[in-house]
Amino acid sequence: MSNWKKRLKAGALALAALALAAVPYSPKPEGGAQRQALGGAKIPAGPYVALTFDDGPKDSTTPVLLDGLARRGVHATFFVIGENVEGNELLLQRMEGEGHQIGLHTYHHKSLDRLNAAGFYAEVDQLRATLTALVGREAFMLRPPYGMMNAATQARAAAPIILWSVDPEDWSDRDTARQVAAIVDKAQDGDIILLHDIYPASVETALQVVDALMAKGFHFVTVEQLFAVRGKTPENGTVYRKLPPSSG
Ligand code: NI
Repeated sequence: MSNWKKRLKAGALALAALALAAVPYSPKPEGGAQRQALGGAKIPAGPYVALTFDDGPKDSTTPVLLDGLARRGVHATFFVIGENVEGNELLLQRMEGEGHQIGLHTYHHKSLDRLNAAGFYAEVDQLRATLTALVGREAFMLRPPYGMMNAATQARAAAPIILWSVDPEDWSDRDTARQVAAIVDKAQDGDIILLHDIYPASVETALQVVDALMAKGFHFVTVEQLFAVRGKTPENGTVYRKLPPSSG
């Protein structure tokens, strides 16, 4: 590629990034299921937690999770990988239709601190465009793979950056009993719980955690809903790990 072409391309990417950065994060389009769910006058006092699932979707495990969450009337947040969305488009639309929140986890599970502007565009902005085409919304929160990021990531994100406060490391042992205990013992009002919907054991963990914490009075919400119940507006480029009551 000639120099001027490179410069044009870089300029276009920078402009695209600026255009995205200028758009404030706005949750569901009006009338969305989640907004309706929170639209009532009464918001229970809590405690609240948000279940989040990374690295999917996967056609053998994610539907089992969606079935279990639907039976319990629980909504969760799915930070998906672009290459796993391919072939699972209907699953994404099911998530959106059932009131779950969909978020960005890059196209190929890339560590964002190692990407230049073009790489970030390919990994994050392209996934955003893919999801917009699929589910008809434009704002998606971002979870960086491995939680890795730097100042450039935050500047380019054009999305709130969502990390986590409870991590049972479910990938390490696929041991549901240990994972459930780890989460239930630690969970507090406002926590964001990290799991992966690509493992059968993690799906079972999630459903057992819902049952155990609901019995203790916890409400399960999406990350967007967690901001809403705290009366807090998520800001693009800002990193969030949890939203305790004092953050409201
Ligand atoms: Ni991941």
